[in-house]
Amino acid sequence: MIITPRVRGFICLTSHPEGCDRNVLNQINYIKGLGPNNGPKRVLVIGASTGFGLASRITSAFGSGASTIGVFFEKPSAEGKPASPGWYNSAAFEKYALEAGLYAKSINGDAFSNEIKQQTIDLIKKDLGQIDLVIYSLASPRRTHPVTGVTYNSVLKPIGTTFSNKTVDFHSGNVSTVTINPANEEEIENTIAVMGGEDWKMWIDAMKEAGVLADGAKTVAYSYIGPKLTEAVYRKGTIGRAKDDLEATAFTIADSLKDIHGEAYVSVNKALVTQASSAIPVIPLYMSLLFKVMKAKGIHEGCIEQIGRLFKDRLYSDGQVPVDEKGRIRIDDWEMREDVQAEVAKLWDEATTENLAEIGDLEGYRVDFFNLFGFELPGIDYDKDVNEIVEIPNLQ
Ligand code: NAD
Ligand code: NA
Repeated sequence: MIITPRVRGFICLTSHPEGCDRNVLNQINYIKGLGPNNGPKRVLVIGASTGFGLASRITSAFGSGASTIGVFFEKPSAEGKPASPGWYNSAAFEKYALEAGLYAKSINGDAFSNEIKQQTIDLIKKDLGQIDLVIYSLASPRRTHPVTGVTYNSVLKPIGTTFSNKTVDFHSGNVSTVTINPANEEEIENTIAVMGGEDWKMWIDAMKEAGVLADGAKTVAYSYIGPKLTEAVYRKGTIGRAKDDLEATAFTIADSLKDIHGEAYVSVNKALVTQASSAIPVIPLYMSLLFKVMKAKGIHEGCIEQIGRLFKDRLYSDGQVPVDEKGRIRIDDWEMREDVQAEVAKLWDEATTENLAEIGDLEGYRVDFFNLFGFELPGIDYDKDVNEIVEIPNLQ
């Protein structure tokens, strides 16, 4: 079929298999270009199909030749209906990994469940024995608790007071004011239950118990801080509470891994266009200004550049892993640079519907968004008939 983008609000309902394949190949080529690193050899990525998790899987496989197991929750293709982008990404990743002689297997299902954890542990025991690095990169709007069966939904709201600020509809370029009412206590608790650290800890506990964590194993989960501009709705809002919980969990996990000389970290990453982040109000406007400033300074990065740097300069550089005063790895260091933030804050005050296309990188944001779904990639013929049905070679 001929596949074109079908957009509804913050999401695109279709995705393009060849475009997704090209996205993965471009990331692989970037990592190969960095040259080999002394990274991990056996890696589990939870949330491996898109965004930072996919970049982590690619960096592991093509940076240090790692065997990888990827866990994700994606929709397969059906006759006349394209798969979700993470499905096509994973199919492409496995194809290229197998071509390169690398072990790569995937599990598609609910990572929050006991069943998927057990299936993953069984696969590790059967094929790899143990794991050297566990990347935890889930982004989900809901979680069903494996013990109580209760389903929690996360919300993106401020805490305490109503928040009002500028936002942009990046499809139309229309800048307007958004007002978001504060969350109640239950919404805060629910967001922590979905995006906090409990499930990460459950994974690591189950893996340790099963003896599938190697001596010296590392685990990393991803977090975000961001600027004053978005603080009320992000870091000091409901999602920020969940990130506080995730960051605190890193210490609990680190303690639990001492006897196997393991380490647990949270890495604070840069704001990037992913499926999860385009749904957060205010953030797209901030990002379009941030990208403009960072590109002008030659320090803009995407997921793969970020994770390439995380592995090379932080996790697997010589000596101790460099962390901030709260024990966090910071690869948002360039985003948070004083000169960058000062320029973004100034542009923020000036931004209107009329001038945003000029003072901000609205076009860059828009293209990044369509790229997530495999659209608008250079070198892909979108008028061509493509087979929407694509298998993931080693799906378990
Ligand atoms: P993403 O939406 O691109 O990826 C989410 C992944 O989780 C996908 O692989 C998806 O299949 C998987 N997933 C979701 N629900 C699942 C479930 N129930 N079971 C199994 N897999 C499931 O998200 P992302 O932006 O790469 O975010 C990953 C992490 O990075 C999050 O913790 C996010 O907060 C953090 N982060 C994001 C940004 C950003 O700007 N995007 C910045 C800093 C940190
Ligand atoms: Na991810």
